[in-house]
Amino acid sequence: KPIIAGLKSIKLETEPGTYFWCACGKSKDQPFCDGSHQGTAFNPIEIVVRKKKLIKWCTCKYTKTPPFCDHSHRELPGYK
Ligand code: FES
Repeated sequence: KPIIAGLKSIKLETEPGTYFWCACGKSKDQPFCDGSHQGTAFNPIEIVVRKKKLIKWCTCKYTKTPPFCDHSHRELPGYK
């Protein structure tokens, strides 16, 4: 299971480019992969952003629509 890195999304005005979203939850550079998944069963998810836009990046890692927040964090223990 992934580590819960946060219990709310990170909203970022995201420039066009290629991003690697952390799926394992271990990255210290949330919501992005910093290579900490090495040795786990996880790999980052690549996303190409074509136009600048506001993205709500999932940090709990339980979203069903990775890498985007779908409010799954509200179902996790510890969420208030
Ligand atoms: Fe989490 Fe790379 S550090 S997927």
